[in-house]
Amino acid sequence: MPRPERPVPTILIIGASRGLGHAMAAEFLGHGWNVVGTVRGGTRRTPLHDLADTSQGRLEIEVLDINEPAQLAVLHNQLSERRFDMLFVNAGTTNNEQTPIGQVPTDDFVTVMVTNALSPMRVIEVLQDLVTPTGLIGAMSSGQGSITNNTTALREVYRGSKAALNMFMRSFSVRQSDTGRAFVLMAPGWVRTDLGGPAAHLTIEESIPNLVNVLLVKRERPGLEYLDYLGRTVPW
Ligand SMILES: NC(=O)c1ccc[n+]([C@@H]2O[C@H](COP(=O)([O-])OP(=O)(O)OC[C@H]3O[C@@H](n4cnc5c(N)ncnc54)[C@H](OP(=O)(O)O)[C@@H]3O)[C@@H](O)[C@H]2O)c1
Repeated sequence: MPRPERPVPTILIIGASRGLGHAMAAEFLGHGWNVVGTVRGGTRRTPLHDLADTSQGRLEIEVLDINEPAQLAVLHNQLSERRFDMLFVNAGTTNNEQTPIGQVPTDDFVTVMVTNALSPMRVIEVLQDLVTPTGLIGAMSSGQGSITNNTTALREVYRGSKAALNMFMRSFSVRQSDTGRAFVLMAPGWVRTDLGGPAAHLTIEESIPNLVNVLLVKRERPGLEYLDYLGRTVPW
């Protein structure tokens, strides 16, 4: 008797227009997954649109600015009948990395902290019911979010925002510790993207295929872990 076909798993990637999120979308397609990726609104064509054109319908694009709760409610409504095997919030931003914390303009501080710490958690809180009980919920943190490893300063607001994200994700996972669900905060390494800049140590190809393998394996391990792109634990 022929074996019943396994359903194709699907990942929802928040912030997949370009850079690491776009590369994750491509990599998951390569693993045979279906992908729903979000971009910010408007008519701008992104690398994700080009990827969708070659995906034979396996990559769908939705719209979300993570700093707009009204858009988040619309997205939830739009996807309410769907179930995802992985939810991953990749979207993030930074400011002028040289500015010491005491000299950071308040507007810059608010933008980075809201975009990197508050909004990803809002997304996760609102969309969590779309994830299957055995599905993984993750967010793109950074090695810069490690308090232990901060021996060089610089990027002070960015570091603070990712450390805050780590703390908020920890609270979220503790609230769900009786579910057996897997949660992850990822540190992709310093990667050459618009955010990482040209001096970064890694290419996207050196980081993201490894990072995706780490996510696929992490699905089997309940609880929250803070891992780098090679699967190594990052000290909090
Ligand atoms: N590159 C690195 O070295 C590095 C290292 C550690 C961690 N990370 C983290 O990895 C993630 C991706 O970074 P990247 O290097 O790929 O940067 P990137 O090339 O600048 O891409 C940033 C992504 O986040 C999206 N985004 C920013 N603000 C958003 C918002 N308010 N709503 C929705 N989407 C938003 C961008 O969308 P638009 O195209 O609409 O702007 C874009 O898709 C970030 O969380 C970053 O902090 C990067």
